[in-house]
Amino acid sequence: MTSTNSNISKITKIAVLTSGGDSPGMNAAIRSVVRSCAYYKISCFGVKQGYQGLIEGKINPLGPRSVNNIINKGGTILKSARSNEFRTKEGREKAFHNLQKQGIEALVVIGGDGSFTGGLIFQEEFEISVIGIPGTIDNDIFGTSHTLGYDTALNTVVEAVDKIRDTAISHNRLFFVEVMGRDAGHIALNTGIGAGAEEILIPEEDMGLERLLESLKRSKKSGKLSSIVMVAEGDKIGKNVFELAEYIEENLPDYEVRVSVLGHMQRGGAPTCFDRVLASRMGLKAVEALRDGISANMVGINCGKMILTPLKKAIKGKSKIDTELVRVSEIMRL
Ligand code: F6P
Repeated sequence: MTSTNSNISKITKIAVLTSGGDSPGMNAAIRSVVRSCAYYKISCFGVKQGYQGLIEGKINPLGPRSVNNIINKGGTILKSARSNEFRTKEGREKAFHNLQKQGIEALVVIGGDGSFTGGLIFQEEFEISVIGIPGTIDNDIFGTSHTLGYDTALNTVVEAVDKIRDTAISHNRLFFVEVMGRDAGHIALNTGIGAGAEEILIPEEDMGLERLLESLKRSKKSGKLSSIVMVAEGDKIGKNVFELAEYIEENLPDYEVRVSVLGHMQRGGAPTCFDRVLASRMGLKAVEALRDGISANMVGINCGKMILTPLKKAIKGKSKIDTELVRVSEIMRL
C-alpha cells in the first residue's frame, strides 16, 4: 500500500537530508539521490544538518559534480543533527516555509525511525512529499532486511574482535566486547557468530546472570582457555557490561576478565561494497517513488528486491532477530 499525493506527478525539485546517527553509506545514498534527480531532470537540493538545517534554511543546490568522490566516504557530507525544534509545530512551519521559498515539493530523509517520525508528521501537516531511506548501523528498522551502514559495521566489528582475540588467546583471558545496538541485537548476534563468540547477549533475550555464569564455567571445563562474550549495548543483564564482567570475574576466578567497548568506531569508515550498492539502489528508488507520486513511504530491500513500506508501518513495526541465528550460535560454541 502506498499513499499518494495529488500534486506530486509534476515534481521538479527534491531536497535530501541526513538525520539522526550517521552510518556508512549515507554519502553513497546522497550521491545516488542527486544523480537520479539529474537523470530525471529534477533539481536537487542538499539540506545541511538534518531537520535543524531545514529550519535554519541551510538548503543548497546539488548537481552531479557536487557528489564526486564521496561514494567511498563514511559519515555524511550533509552532516547530521537531532533537532528538538523540529519537534514543535513552529519549527516545522519554519522548515516548510524555507522549502516553499525554493519551490521544493519533496524531501528524501536518510535516517532512522526517529527521523522518519519527524518526516511523517511533516508531510501530514504540509503539502510536501516524504520518502525515507533507512540509514543506521543498528539494522533495527521494519521493512528492510538491511539498513545502510549495517553491513559495514558488521565487518568493522569482526575485524576488531579478531584483533581482541589475539590478546585473549595470548593471555588466556575472557573478553566482554560491547557493540552498538541500543534496542536491537542484530550487530551482536551476527558478529558474535562471525567472530566466534562463546556467548552473545542481546536485548531481545534475557539470558540471566546465573545461566551466563554456568555456561562460561562449562566452556572452561571443556578445555577453552580464552573466550569472547559479545554484548549488545542494550542488553538487559546487569546495569552495564562492566558490572557484568565484574560479576563473572568474582565468580569465575580462573579467568582474567577484560572489557572492550567498541563504541563509535563502529559507525565510521568506508562503506563496504554491499552498502555502496544498496545506497545507490535505495537513492534511485526514492527518487522514482517520488516521481510516481508516492509519499510517506520508506525504501527497503527484501530478498534482493527494492520494496516500499509505508512510513507508519516502518516506524511501528519491529525488526525481529533471526532465531535461526540464535540456534547456530548455540551449536557453534560447543
Ligand atoms: O545509530 C544508532 C546508535 O548506533 C545506537 O546503537 C547507539 O546507542 C547510538 O547510535 C549512539 O548515538 P550517539 O552518537 O548519539 O551517542
